[in-house]
Amino acid sequence: MSDELRVDGRRLDARLERLGQVGGLEGGGVCRLALTDADRDGRDLVVGWMRELGLEVRIDGIGNVVGVRAGSEAGPPVMIGSHIDTVRTGGLYDGNLGVLAGLEVVETLIDAGVETRRPLAVAFFTNEEGARFAPDMMGSLVFQGDLPLDEALATRGIDGAPLGDELQRIGYAGAAPVGAAANPVHAYMELHVEQGPVLDIEGVTIGAVEGVQGISWTEFTATGVSNHAGTTPTRLRHDAGLLAGRVIAFVRELAVEFGGDQVATVGSLELKPNLVNVIPNQARFTVDLRNTDAERLREAERRLFAFVDEIAAAEGLQVSHRALARFEPVVFQAEMVDRVERVARTLGHSVRRLPSGAGHDAQIMARMCPAGMVFVPSAGGISHNVREYTCSEDIEAGANVLLHTVLELVEPVAGAGREGI
Ligand code: GLV
Ligand code: MN
Ligand code: MN
Repeated sequence: MSDELRVDGRRLDARLERLGQVGGLEGGGVCRLALTDADRDGRDLVVGWMRELGLEVRIDGIGNVVGVRAGSEAGPPVMIGSHIDTVRTGGLYDGNLGVLAGLEVVETLIDAGVETRRPLAVAFFTNEEGARFAPDMMGSLVFQGDLPLDEALATRGIDGAPLGDELQRIGYAGAAPVGAAANPVHAYMELHVEQGPVLDIEGVTIGAVEGVQGISWTEFTATGVSNHAGTTPTRLRHDAGLLAGRVIAFVRELAVEFGGDQVATVGSLELKPNLVNVIPNQARFTVDLRNTDAERLREAERRLFAFVDEIAAAEGLQVSHRALARFEPVVFQAEMVDRVERVARTLGHSVRRLPSGAGHDAQIMARMCPAGMVFVPSAGGISHNVREYTCSEDIEAGANVLLHTVLELVEPVAGAGREGI
């Protein structure tokens, strides 16, 4: 009976569209940076849907929201999760798809009268993006326990706001305890858009995600001397902007030299005083380095720091740095990857294995339980962009793979459900 179950793709699309209106940007896309008013409104909408589905909603000390459907037996739930915060210029799918597909799985089970042995939970984690508060995957890190709650609450955003104050302000500082001991999970599954080009280029519908590449984020602040742009000879300059410019070019060259999976990005840059005729006395910029190979990632970091020291010494600059995020590459349990691949094939979809280039809550959850991910194609490989798009057919296919992967994990209660669905 449950083999024939399928999600309602149109219902899932409708929820994606509705949530995409919250914090919607003119011309498309969405801005729901973590713990802003828009994030609160998005949370309220999703929590409302959880309650309509009869889930028991728990909110913990970092604002993670977990909606639980009871199983016929007590015990750790199977969890479907992701995030609903976005980057400033985000699309409708990144994170949101995973959470709303979780609700769609629950509603499909309810409609079919399928009870499960294990409880089933749908979660959205606070501040996965890390675009306002670093590190990324913050909510799942606190949930799992490797980031102490106090430390996370004390984090300041790019706008200077303390995270704890913002959480209180939007009404999502909950009472549920954090940490793996208080939150045992049987297994974790996440459906996500690939956010890269592989599936789209190859015309493959489903990605069975093997793991997530390592991530290193560093913020550098260079201090030089402001002076007149017209009168200061080149040899007498201490131009903080020069370092930023050289690093932007250097990390690109490094990525090309390393090849393979190495990527490198300077995504944020601020110069002071930021005027046409004044040599910058301060440059603050971030570097994002990623590689699936732990040793190559460390080597990229070493090379970057050596380069920064060399340019700073030559230009007479003071440089300080701050680690914003650091994650080792993660390999998902083979059984979980195999399960996704097998379920996708059984449902008649093309499938390939691939690593994730983006960070995900699943990589944190993998520290406390078996975790797996299902990818669906991103048109043109575009993400963290208002033009992010995945077609309805692929969304439905991904949600059905999620449904049946999760069904194997929650174990339908024999005899429950209507026949012939
Ligand atoms: C999270 O979206 C990341 O930067 O990978
Ligand atoms: Mn995401
Ligand atoms: Mn993202």
